Amino acid sequence: MQLEQIRRIAVIGLGRMGHGIAQSFAMAGFPVRAFDANTEARESTPDRIRSNLNAFVANDLISGNDVEPILNRIKILESEADAATDADFIVEAIAENREIKQDFFARIEDVVEKTTIIASNSSTFTISESCANMRDPRRAIVTHWFNPPHIVPTVEIVPGPETTDQITRTTIALHRKLGKQAVRVNAEIPGFLVNRVQMAMIREIWDLYERGIASREDIDAAIQGSLGFRLAVSGPLAVCDFGGIDIWSTVYKRLVPELRNDSSVPDSIQQLLNEGSLGPRSGRGIYEYDPATVDEISAKRDTAMLKLAKLVADDSSFQDAPATGSKG
Ligand SMILES: NC(=O)c1ccc[n+]([C@@H]2O[C@H](COP(=O)([O-])OP(=O)(O)OC[C@H]3O[C@@H](n4cnc5c(N)ncnc54)[C@H](O)[C@@H]3O)[C@@H](O)[C@H]2O)c1
Repeated sequence: MQLEQIRRIAVIGLGRMGHGIAQSFAMAGFPVRAFDANTEARESTPDRIRSNLNAFVANDLISGNDVEPILNRIKILESEADAATDADFIVEAIAENREIKQDFFARIEDVVEKTTIIASNSSTFTISESCANMRDPRRAIVTHWFNPPHIVPTVEIVPGPETTDQITRTTIALHRKLGKQAVRVNAEIPGFLVNRVQMAMIREIWDLYERGIASREDIDAAIQGSLGFRLAVSGPLAVCDFGGIDIWSTVYKRLVPELRNDSSVPDSIQQLLNEGSLGPRSGRGIYEYDPATVDEISAKRDTAMLKLAKLVADDSSFQDAPATGSKG
């Protein structure tokens, strides 16, 4: 399957991730047929996408005239088979459960055409795990988006050992056509690429927090205003080059032995877990929240990310610089 042959998209599972993935394809002009097993999720999808699109309009990323045509490209169907019919590319964002994923992949290969690419948005399961019961796993692949998917640029494309190179290349090209920063991960390792890095950082951050090395507010401000700020415009390997490999090697030898390296959840975090303090929706996580304001906080976060996305997209010459070696 070549990029030019992909005309119709299906999205199965319309929760936090699926509705934004459907939106992204529709924004790039693709007709999308979508399904969720839950009636409320199906019924609320158009309103959730409309609200996302209104934020795009408010930040001058699309025109108000674009909203209805984008919404009209998304059809919510009453069955998985109806949504999947005729799809050239189908992606699932259903429950993160091995058996549910395996059943989906085994079932869907008999519903779609033999050439249809079948993708999983799983954050944990490799495509080899999800497609264990498929007859033809060569067209199955992981496309791992980040929340909120309609805003965060990166999508990790992770083929399994059976996935053909053509399927991988077409999937990368498709996501680049959406304007996504599609990256190829060459091996199926747990957590793929980004979540491994994220967890390495979170382990150290939880350790610093538990030991009271700084307050929660200062830890967040320190990382957001330094690594976060810099990483928005420069990849970590390019940061190493510009810092000097000699300096980084010295710091590596001095600091790495000092870092937390066990795999247990810190006691203070375990205590939050035991209390049911799981984050904004439970009124408390590491911070305290008024659950009534959670949607407002999320909307503010999305607006800030949209502004950042616009800034980074407008300055694409700077983003391209490391590959050309011209950054200086
Ligand atoms: N939330 C994240 O930050 C994030 C990031 C990357 C990837 N993912 C992955 O994306 C997938 C979806 O995550 P989410 O956060 O959107 O979950 P979610 O719970 O918000 O949404 C899942 C949706 O799938 C529906 N569903 C479940 N089983 C189904 C089935 N068999 N057929 C049709 N619909 C079904 C549910 O009704 C629900 O609406 C998971 O595999 C998850 O690991 C999540």
